[in-house]
Amino acid sequence: MIMKLAEAEIGMIGLGVMGCNLALNMADHGFAVAGYDRDPAKAAALNQAAGSPKIQGTANLAEFIAALRRPRAIMLLVPAGAPVDAVIAELLPHLAPGDLILDAGNSHFTDTDARAPKLKAKGIEFLGMGVSGGEAGARHGPSIMPGGPREAYERVRPVLEAVAAQVKGDPCVVWLGPGSAGHYVKMVHNGIEYGIMQLLAETYDFMKRGLGLNDDELSAAYGRWNQGEINGYLVEITSAIFTTADAATGRRLIDEILDVARQRGTGLWTSQSAMELQVPVPTIDLAVAMRDRSIFTKDRAQAGTEYPRPIRPCPGDRATLLAQWGRGLFTAIITISAQGLALLSAASAKYGYGLDLAAVARIWRGGCIIRAGVLEDINAAYLARPQLRDLLLDPALARMVAERQEDLRASVGQAVNAGVPVPGLMVSLGYLDALRSPWQPANLIQAQRDYFDAHTYERTDAKGTFHTDWEKAGAK
Ligand code: 6PG
Repeated sequence: MIMKLAEAEIGMIGLGVMGCNLALNMADHGFAVAGYDRDPAKAAALNQAAGSPKIQGTANLAEFIAALRRPRAIMLLVPAGAPVDAVIAELLPHLAPGDLILDAGNSHFTDTDARAPKLKAKGIEFLGMGVSGGEAGARHGPSIMPGGPREAYERVRPVLEAVAAQVKGDPCVVWLGPGSAGHYVKMVHNGIEYGIMQLLAETYDFMKRGLGLNDDELSAAYGRWNQGEINGYLVEITSAIFTTADAATGRRLIDEILDVARQRGTGLWTSQSAMELQVPVPTIDLAVAMRDRSIFTKDRAQAGTEYPRPIRPCPGDRATLLAQWGRGLFTAIITISAQGLALLSAASAKYGYGLDLAAVARIWRGGCIIRAGVLEDINAAYLARPQLRDLLLDPALARMVAERQEDLRASVGQAVNAGVPVPGLMVSLGYLDALRSPWQPANLIQAQRDYFDAHTYERTDAKGTFHTDWEKAGAK
């Protein structure tokens, strides 16, 4: 290592795609960075890519530690779970009180809550930090979601603000709250990401099998949507995917990809946490379920012969239908964002994060996977009403949804007639219909619970809890 002793302002452990690119990004902004990876090839790759004495990679931990300015600030970009604990255990003997560890992976928020006090007992500060944007984001500006002690954040704030994506001169990073606030917000970001991806997959299915669009036409449809109100990174890359060639066959790559979706867990964690907090996030649940459903390829093939029903082409003017589907999709995307933000609001109250949801929407406007034009509207909604319980109750967003809800309904209806599965769109519509329904049939559920197990019920005309012996009660 040619870097002078104690020169590096920040250390990066884990020089895979994300760690390497984020380290390069830091160096671009003038920060001296020391990188460490136990794989010498990865350390060498960083040095090769760097071309600047401001950044040095090594596979020697002692050398890495010696290169860091004290008190040290060390960012981890290693896979969530056991690898994070392993790296921390390896690091600890080399650290001194006052040093700071930033876990920038997709760690489960409860792991972050468990690690922080253990490190604090040794005098080590700990920040749990979500980073979104994939490889390009890490290199050119991700969205960064840090949580933990505020003073610890202030120490690394200049680096994080410099490397984050910038939107209208605003860095896409802000201290979100204590403890695991950062990892919780990142988890919900990913839950929303799962939901939007599922909705986009459903629109693809309908346009392909219901409307018969080919890959060029699909690319054009998403491209057009990306010029309008649904504009966003996921819509943009969806358009690009349909025209990408497969190097092996020369055909379109999308058509060579197996229809089995994998996952690393953050969507599932979002659903699990939402269930625990009793916040409905049905579109996210459904997105996780459909990835699971996709795994059973043999069952799907068999069921296709057990329940044959050809897809019925959808009649009507294509341009009109596509415009309607675009508005329907936009409505569903707002609905899923509302689900995620309602979960954040409940988690903030339960775990004492003190989240500023306007700030969350603000840092999601750039760099991250769910960045989209609508986040400006969501930001404005929470700026106007910081205590807003449900985004769908914001007057401006409610107007947008109200004006388009019939498009979502019509789209779902067309898909049902065609026989194209659109469960994410359906559940988003159902969520909306249930939300705007002053009365729900939950009285019947209470009656059933009381009938078979004396669980009691509340009445509309009196306070307290009541039980009826239903079998003895007379008929009316
Ligand atoms: C991001 C992504 C990133 C990753 C997730 C989702 O914000 O940059 O969300 O964190 O792609 O791990 O991956 P899975 O789909 O495999 O769960």
